[in-house]
Amino acid sequence: MAETVSVLDKEFEVYLSKEKIAARVAQLGEDISRDYKGQPLLLVGMLNGAFMFCSDLIREIDSPSEITFVRYKSYAGMESTGEVNQLLGINRDVKDVHILIVEDIVDTGLTMKKAMAYFNSLQPKSIQVASLLLKPECLKVSLDVKYVGFEIPEKFVVGYGLDYDGLGRNLKDIYQLKAE
Ligand code: PRP
Repeated sequence: MAETVSVLDKEFEVYLSKEKIAARVAQLGEDISRDYKGQPLLLVGMLNGAFMFCSDLIREIDSPSEITFVRYKSYAGMESTGEVNQLLGINRDVKDVHILIVEDIVDTGLTMKKAMAYFNSLQPKSIQVASLLLKPECLKVSLDVKYVGFEIPEKFVVGYGLDYDGLGRNLKDIYQLKAE
């Protein structure tokens, strides 16, 4: 594992190793399996950032699990624009379905708030959220995130699906912005 990496014009230092991430994802999978007790589940991955977490998490879940994806976009560079756009929705009936939304990071919470309004309007049997990362200090709205991998401070992070201007998603570990 590289201790530091450059992505575009920024330097990042390792923050969560792939081993630490894998161990936590396995625990989350155990929690989810225990809670749903073998009931069928539809995982809804939030593209693009959550693709890697989603693919690891589904392998740790014992219940029969389907998967689909939605896409929201709110970030430009390292800043939330405050405007959240849905680029891809769900094109199937989810009434009587247990939905588990899978997100890489909840930061201001604006993306998840918008997504929750949309999923609620589809009237599924239940909705819960699993987010690998949560920045409690940055939340601007109240949200119930049932499954949280790691609570992290207000620092920009890349890797394991998370990007800086489209790059860095392929890093196996999670890195945080180095102090200048
Ligand atoms: C990122 C991340 C979350 C969202 C969190 O997505 O994947 O979906 O921002 O931020 P918020 O809580 O402040 O709304 P982004 O818009 O960068 O799209 P991406 O997943 O394609 O990188």
